[in-house]
Amino acid sequence: MARSDWGIGIVGLGGIARQHLEGYRRQGLKVVGGAEIDEARRSAVARDFNLSFVTADYRELIARADVRIVDITVPHTLALRQPIIAFAAQHQKAMFVQKPLLPYLNEARQLVAIAERHGAPMMVNQNSIFVPAFRAMEPYLRDEKYLGTPYWFQIENVNWFDPGAHGWYGKAERWVTSDMAIHHFALVRHWFGEWDSVYALMAHDDSQKHIKGDTLSSLLVRFQSGVQGLILNNWSYRGHRPRPHSTEEITIQGTRGCISGNSKEICVTTTDPPAKIYPTFRGDWFPDAFGNAMAHFVDALDTGTPFLCEARDNLNAVAMIEAAYLSVKEQRAVRREELMGS
Ligand SMILES: NC(=O)c1ccc[n+]([C@@H]2O[C@H](COP(=O)([O-])OP(=O)(O)OC[C@H]3O[C@@H](n4cnc5c(N)ncnc54)[C@H](O)[C@@H]3O)[C@@H](O)[C@H]2O)c1
Repeated sequence: MARSDWGIGIVGLGGIARQHLEGYRRQGLKVVGGAEIDEARRSAVARDFNLSFVTADYRELIARADVRIVDITVPHTLALRQPIIAFAAQHQKAMFVQKPLLPYLNEARQLVAIAERHGAPMMVNQNSIFVPAFRAMEPYLRDEKYLGTPYWFQIENVNWFDPGAHGWYGKAERWVTSDMAIHHFALVRHWFGEWDSVYALMAHDDSQKHIKGDTLSSLLVRFQSGVQGLILNNWSYRGHRPRPHSTEEITIQGTRGCISGNSKEICVTTTDPPAKIYPTFRGDWFPDAFGNAMAHFVDALDTGTPFLCEARDNLNAVAMIEAAYLSVKEQRAVRREELMGS
C-alpha cells in the first residue's frame, strides 16, 4: 500500500500535534482527522491544517474505518491515556504515543499490557531518534574507522524554563527527568544498547515557582557495553551560554575520534588520519523528527517488519526514569536488573 493509505487520527490537538501535522504533511502521510475536547483548539487546528473531520469524542475518530493509526498526543497521565489506548486496542488500531509513554514504570507497563492483550502494535514517539542530524551521526558512530571504540558521551540541555500558568507543564511530581531526559535516555539506548545503571543528582530551583518537580537533573549512565556518559538537563540555568532543547549539545568520544554538535550542525573529528568531517543532512528536530518517526512506523506496518521504539522495548527507557528517581531517593546507583529483571 501507499503511505497515504495509512490513515492517521490524532487524539489531542494541542501544542505538539501541530508539529506532528506539519511533519506528516512533509512526508506525504494522510491525516484523516483529529479529536480534541477544547473547542477553540479543535477549530483552530482544523482551520490551520485543513482537517475535514474533527470531533470532541475520540471514540468517533478511532472507530472510523479509514483511521488505521491512532496518534496519541494527550498529556502523559494514566487517567488520560489509558481509556484512549484501551478503545484503540479494542478496535485493533495501531498506536503512536507521545513520549514519555508514562513517567512511572508500573503505569507504563499497564498501557503496554492493554495493547498486547489485543495484539495492537504500539510505537512510542521518541522523536530524538529520528532527528535528521542525529541520524546522520549514526554511520560514524557505528563504524570503528571513525571513532574507534566509543566509551563516553555527554548530552547537555541547559536553559531557563518557566511554564507559567500552563495547565500541566511542571505541575506533576516528576518533571525535567521524566519529561526531557526521556528524549536522551531513548537516544543513548538506541546508540549504545541496553543500559546497566543510572546514578542521579537532582535539584529544584525554588525561584521556579511554577514547577513542582525537578528542574535540574544530572544523570550518570553506564551501559552493558561499557560505554558511560552524562545526561545533564539543567533547566534552571540563567547563564549567558544556554544550550536549549532542541539544540542540546552532544559529544560522543571514542578511542580514535569524537562526534560533536547538535540538531543543527555536527562534526566528526578523527585522529587517524587527522580530519574533520561535516556530515550533511536535511531537516530539523521540529517538525521533521515527528514526520520521520511516523513514516518509519507506517513503513514498518506496511511491510510487517519490526519498528524502533516498540512500546515493550521502550519500557527499558521508562525504567531509566524510574531508576533516576530511585537513585536520588536512596542516594545510590540503580541497576537495570532491579527494575527489569535479567
Ligand atoms: N519533543 C517532543 O516530543 C514533545 C514536545 C512537546 C510535548 N510532547 C508531549 O506531547 C504530549 C502533549 O503535549 P502538548 O504540549 O501538546 O500538550 P497540550 O496540553 O498543548 O495538548 C494536549 C491536548 O490534548 C487535549 N486532550 C486531553 N484529553 C483529551 C481527550 N480525552 N480527548 C481529546 N483531546 C484531549 C487537551 O485539550 C490539549 O489540547 C505530552 O505527553 C508531551 O510530553 C512531546
